[in-house]
Amino acid sequence: MSDDAAAARPGLDTTVSHSARIWNYWLGGKDNFAVDREAGDRVAAMLPIIVAQARADRAFLGRAVRYLAGPAGVRQFLDIGTGLPTADNTHQVAQRVAPEARIVYVDNDPLVLSHARALLTSSPEGRCDYIDADLREPEKVLAGAAQTLDFTQPVALLLLGVLHHIPSTDQAQEIVRQLVAALPPGSFLAINHSTSAVSGAAMEDAVAHWNRVGTPTMTLRSPEQIARFFDGLDLVPPGVVSCSLWRPDISPLNGQPPPVDEFCGVARKP
Ligand SMILES: C[S@@+](CC[C@H](N)C(=O)[O-])C[C@H]1O[C@@H](n2cnc3c(N)ncnc32)[C@H](O)[C@@H]1O
Repeated sequence: MSDDAAAARPGLDTTVSHSARIWNYWLGGKDNFAVDREAGDRVAAMLPIIVAQARADRAFLGRAVRYLAGPAGVRQFLDIGTGLPTADNTHQVAQRVAPEARIVYVDNDPLVLSHARALLTSSPEGRCDYIDADLREPEKVLAGAAQTLDFTQPVALLLLGVLHHIPSTDQAQEIVRQLVAALPPGSFLAINHSTSAVSGAAMEDAVAHWNRVGTPTMTLRSPEQIARFFDGLDLVPPGVVSCSLWRPDISPLNGQPPPVDEFCGVARKP
């Protein structure tokens, strides 16, 4: 997208790089500005694996949603920190398995809001909605989601690539606790979160750079801290692992993929 086209959109600051747009750039999308590409290239120069990492994260979304709509039998999804639309958004993956699935997307980025139409192309049997809200306002998110989702039936709560944008671990845990408390038994929580367990200082330096040039800031957490978000829930195998290793699609040709610095898990509320 050109910076001129962006200037016409209210609420957009094209002088500061933003998480959703850098992410879109790494995923090969077009909805990003010069400042995002520059920041994305700088981070990728410091940590070349970051682009593969973003793609592994997105591939995890596909496998997790296929599992949730398939064997787990979930028909309702609350996807907070949606990101810009790309190939295989949550509703497309879920509704391929279960056309009647209902999906509510939530993001606080004005550019994601301006692209929300692409996220609302529900199958006729299902439903999609988009809420312009902040993860730090769980009551607002839940009230908005209740317009579309039935909170007496299982819901899959997806927090993919978003909790690391909450700097305080206590606050992030409290948000997860409040959201999960609103879900009935049989619901699921899926999380994907950045760490430095694999690349160490290279990832930490890249994130320090990100935090100087981009918004919102990122806070890396250890796999143990990520696992704590699932307290009280039953993790499904293989537990909390690098997202490239969560039930990977292994073929005899490509073997086991290398781990990346995004750790994830999927758990069921008993
Ligand atoms: C790295 S992208 C992840 C996109 C997608 N979930 C995925 O896994 O591919 C993070 C998204 O979270 C959104 N986000 C960041 N902080 C947020 C907050 N406090 N409330 C709602 N959305 C937020 C950003 O705007 C961005 O779209």
